[in-house]
Amino acid sequence: MKTKFYKSSKTLALGMSLLFGVTSGTAQDGSQLFQTNCAACHKTTDGKLVGPGMAGITEKRSTEWLKSWIKDSQAMIASGDPDAKAISAEYNNMVMPPFTQFSGAEMDALITYLGTLGAGSGTDTAQMVDIVYSDVEIAEGKKYFTGEKSFFNGGPSCISCHDVSADGVVGGYLAKDLTDVYARLGEAGIMAMITNAPFPAMNSAYKNNPVSGPEQKSLSAFLKSVSANQPENRSSSVITFLAYGFGGFFVLLILIMLIWNKRKKHSVKEQIFARQIRSIN
Ligand code: HEC
Ligand code: HEC
Repeated sequence: MKTKFYKSSKTLALGMSLLFGVTSGTAQDGSQLFQTNCAACHKTTDGKLVGPGMAGITEKRSTEWLKSWIKDSQAMIASGDPDAKAISAEYNNMVMPPFTQFSGAEMDALITYLGTLGAGSGTDTAQMVDIVYSDVEIAEGKKYFTGEKSFFNGGPSCISCHDVSADGVVGGYLAKDLTDVYARLGEAGIMAMITNAPFPAMNSAYKNNPVSGPEQKSLSAFLKSVSANQPENRSSSVITFLAYGFGGFFVLLILIMLIWNKRKKHSVKEQIFARQIRSIN
């Protein structure tokens, strides 16, 4: 029994080392690393997705700069590096996740791969197009978002982790509110996120139950409608809130003044005191 266990754990260890051997072997492949870790946010062309396109990046930045940026961009921004600060400001201080897990060899493979994406790797203007969705797509997207309609492959509905400001939607708080996400990421960004989220919780939710293209498109339609309806709604509701607030405040003030005016002009104690003074004199 004991030896059997020993043997099987030895096999397990061997299996594990093989597995790790294999993963670190493929991980040397910079293109593969890019696909799994970066492609949700970066295109290999000069087109914007969540972050800037990577075409020509090794001509724009030095290898050392790229390595420290990829490892921990926030630390680099905090250190005051002018290029890091500028690119972060250009993207509204959006945070790129740190990649501290890469080995030296993996980082080199990634940079080598980035080097193959020369400045001429393609121009991309798809993001600039204002996509017009039908009401049907928007309504479908809302159903998928809230779970009223299930995804074909059975992944969880977005509402289990995300909220948006829209009528009849009360979502989860595990992850970010998605009200303004369309304005920031656009359809391509949202679809890239759903396909290959760089966040473990969301990624594992859909890894084995991918959301289909048309389902993603309708979600994007819904998120666009939410995003587009927001700014006026929000500012007008703030004004209404303030108006009610001030109105209420003045009504209260008037009530207090009325009540105050009705009270006795002098307190009872004052009258007793006055009588006592008189009796002493
Ligand atoms: C969740 C989205 C996200 C992921 C994943 C991501 N990035 Fe970024 N990246 C950004 C954003 C946004 C910026 C723009 C700067 C900022 O706001 O921090 C950026 C900026 C960059 C820059 C600087 C570009 C310039 O013009 O200087 C490089 C280089 C970069 N990313 C490489 C990578 C690599 C390589 C990976 C994968 C290992 C990766 N990024 C993963 C979002 C992401
Ligand atoms: C299991 C939980 C979970 C589910 C389900 C889920 N997400 Fe996410 N999502 C996350 C997490 C975690 C993040 C990372 C951002 C954060 O920390 O809030 C994220 C980020 C995002 C982002 C990027 C947000 C940004 O501001 O950059 C988008 C877009 C997004 N999710 C869309 C969706 C859509 C659409 C669905 C439904 C198909 C969905 N998510 C389902 C957990 C989830």
